[in-house]
Amino acid sequence: MSDYRPLTALPPVPGYTTGDVLVLFGELFGRGYANGLVEEAKRLGMTVIGTTVGRRDSDGTLRPLTAEELAEAEALLGASIINIPLEAGFDMETPDGQPSIAEQLKKAKPDEWQQVSFSAEFIAKAQTAGQARFTANVAQLATELERRIPAGANLLFAHTMAGGIPRARFFMPLLNRVFKGTGDKYLPSEPFWQSGVGQLCDASFNEVTADTFRYLLDGTASLRQRVTAGGGKVAYTAYGYHGTGILLNGEYHWQSYTPYLQGFAKMRLEDIAAEARQQGVNATVFNCPEIQTNSSALFLGVELSLYPLLHSVRNAVGADAAPLEQRCAELLQDGTTLAGLLAEADAYLTNPLINDSLEFSGWPQHSTKEQMELMLATSNRLMALHRDQKQLVCAELSRLVFRATGRLIVQGSWSSQKAAVWLNHDLIAQLVADQRGADLLD
Ligand SMILES: NC(=O)c1ccc[n+]([C@@H]2O[C@H](COP(=O)([O-])OP(=O)(O)OC[C@H]3O[C@@H](n4cnc5c(N)ncnc54)[C@H](O)[C@@H]3O)[C@@H](O)[C@H]2O)c1
Repeated sequence: MSDYRPLTALPPVPGYTTGDVLVLFGELFGRGYANGLVEEAKRLGMTVIGTTVGRRDSDGTLRPLTAEELAEAEALLGASIINIPLEAGFDMETPDGQPSIAEQLKKAKPDEWQQVSFSAEFIAKAQTAGQARFTANVAQLATELERRIPAGANLLFAHTMAGGIPRARFFMPLLNRVFKGTGDKYLPSEPFWQSGVGQLCDASFNEVTADTFRYLLDGTASLRQRVTAGGGKVAYTAYGYHGTGILLNGEYHWQSYTPYLQGFAKMRLEDIAAEARQQGVNATVFNCPEIQTNSSALFLGVELSLYPLLHSVRNAVGADAAPLEQRCAELLQDGTTLAGLLAEADAYLTNPLINDSLEFSGWPQHSTKEQMELMLATSNRLMALHRDQKQLVCAELSRLVFRATGRLIVQGSWSSQKAAVWLNHDLIAQLVADQRGADLLD
């Protein structure tokens, strides 16, 4: 695990320019963190190359995108996509012709989750098969990139993959109980995580969220050498999450969402970047704030720590924060003020029940019923203050965060020296207060 190292100053101005290339390692589906990287790379004149997870046919076969799907995905990205399916994980693998994990789970009953398990041998075989498929596809990707990267260009690889919940209906009611359950429905994260299905998730999260970064680093080693020999720089970035520093009572405090079960895999991701650095590769995990995206939709309450970003921005830019505050205030119901909303969020975030149980060295913490009930009730109450549940203050703030972090990551990758750094609310506020980021408040 890394030490807590927030970036406290804006990164040096990078040397990326027209003709340099950003490769997104992970498909972009809109509304996600990677939008910020794409926007920044294009702003700097870089060429963006996308990738895809591919699609599964109804018989389970993984395939590239059809011409129509490819055109749609490229239109969304605004750039070309290398059409090689980069789905990671092993839930659909059928080692020795045995039914896949996803298939076997079709018969499992969520109520009997404690009795469901897979032999370590079966998981290992499925994992080996999934790795072989994925790394073979990464090798093809590297060959295609060899053709596309212009001589002398600088190259930035951005890993965006995270996930690994095995694709089976079985998990939905269970995970809803772990992440959204109150009263009788509450399921503590610790026994879930220690169970057979919890350990399956652990292996699957490691594979998708962390080990794919290693496969990228290994699979592009010869491309890296070629680019470097031609005078170009090569950098690798990955999105991490390991809590965030936010402004509470006038000071910045590290805090985190609980229970963040992907956290074990996110620490493994940091370790992979550290190993790469020991071999002289510029690889950095940028730990980013909690925002609302497709991936975070399951984690109700994760958005609560986003509200105080408004304090950070106000502190940094003063009256220039007014248009952002105005846009946020307009989303609230009549009779509700932004100040009132922020006061409730602050009260929650400073509540000893939430605050006292958090410790960086013991992260990620498991849930307690009282914490979960307070978090979910606060989240629901603050959402209910909005005019429209589909237009939220946190969506406005998420946009600011993914755009700002995209800029910080692309620019920071150029001269990054550390395996893991934190992009906290203070740095985002510093960016928008600087001429390098003032436009992000628009
Ligand atoms: N949303 C947050 O609060 C938050 C906070 C910090 C870091 N992050 C990280 O940012 C990154 C982007 O996430 P996001 O929140 O923008 O959501 P997202 O849903 O847009 O991105 C998730 C990415 O993972 C890929 N993916 C999922 N399962 C995969 C699989 N089996 N094989 C290959 N690729 C797979 C998707 O294609 C997508 O590119 C992730 O690494 C996430 O952990 C998110």
